[in-house]
Amino acid sequence: MTMEFTDRVTRVEPSATLAISALATELEAEGADVVDLSVGEPDFPTPENIVEAGKDAMDAGHTGYTTSAGILELREAIADKLADDGLEHTADEIIVTPGAKQALYEIVQALIEDGDEVVLLDPAWVSYEAMVKMAGGELTRVDLSDSDFQLEPALDDLEAAVSDDTELLVVNSPSNPTGAVYSDAALEGVRDLAVEHDITVISDEIYKEITYGVEPTSLGTLEGMADRTVTVNGFSKAYSMTGWRLGYFAGPEDLIDQAGKLHSHSVSSAVNFVQHAGLEALETEDAVDEMVAAFEERRDLVIDLLDEHDVDVAVPEGAFYMMLPVDDDDQAWCEGAIEDAHVATVPGSAFGTPGYARISYAASEERLEEGIERLAEEGYL
Ligand SMILES: Cc1ncc(COP(=O)(O)O)c(C=O)c1O
Repeated sequence: MTMEFTDRVTRVEPSATLAISALATELEAEGADVVDLSVGEPDFPTPENIVEAGKDAMDAGHTGYTTSAGILELREAIADKLADDGLEHTADEIIVTPGAKQALYEIVQALIEDGDEVVLLDPAWVSYEAMVKMAGGELTRVDLSDSDFQLEPALDDLEAAVSDDTELLVVNSPSNPTGAVYSDAALEGVRDLAVEHDITVISDEIYKEITYGVEPTSLGTLEGMADRTVTVNGFSKAYSMTGWRLGYFAGPEDLIDQAGKLHSHSVSSAVNFVQHAGLEALETEDAVDEMVAAFEERRDLVIDLLDEHDVDVAVPEGAFYMMLPVDDDDQAWCEGAIEDAHVATVPGSAFGTPGYARISYAASEERLEEGIERLAEEGYL
């Protein structure tokens, strides 16, 4: 039989990163040593105390369903964490999800329907576009590549892009894929436009804990933003817990009620013992500080190595990515880099910004050195 698929899924393209991973897998199967700078996850193990808390929770029998929004202790601990960031939310205004990705999916599904306009700041993380398309929304994209990926110099462009027809704006600072942390003036500019045009804003703060010498402001703390901001965060990046699948969102209670229906009818809840491990994670500081310090050293190393080859990049202040300027045909550049130099990166066009490749420096210093050296030897720098 021939199945008929919905517009909802057929209008979404498979991720452009898949071609690169497929090539990497193929080369590795042939015995090649691929330096993988394409991954979006920390290369550290989950801190031991968090692993132990997960095991203890299993031993203690925390293996059944939980309340759909997540166990109260965790939502209260998240509320305390958000309060430290200056955001006021009760446990009832928080939903714990299997990863921040699920949080974003539920928010977009709850807010966006056919024809609604959603504004993205490019380059933007790959899944925003897919989520908006699946919900039937229309994308308007604001390019930040002429301003070193900073938003403040591009506020005029954002102003020109938004209108009373804009339903939702997605802000991700620190950013994947650029590592940019937006200034307070930039966020105030967002606030002014959001208030003027009555726009809901998603503040994706999944990299908030990974910054180098800057303190990113949470958008929802700005005057006028509390009732129009949905703050998303999770445990994957800061605590190196990508495979545990734990994230959350906090927002106005009516959104939580609506999105909560989606949540309960789809995933039911995040995994019970994982939520208990999350409680331990929120108490973990030293291991996070150590990982962040290592990322900062690696960032500096990559920038120095690129500088030796006269390559200038916008210096990231957070997350563990940077954008390398490459040929206009970035897909071909990335395919060539993996075939010739056996170095995997992600084409900028996957994030809406051709002409760049995203490098993830969540790799050891040795591998980073090896990767840059190979790119230079094969003429890719
Ligand atoms: C910007 C951004 N938001 C959200 C996520 C989702 O993270 P997770 O679902 O692992 O919590 C990611 C993961 O790569 C990301 O880069």
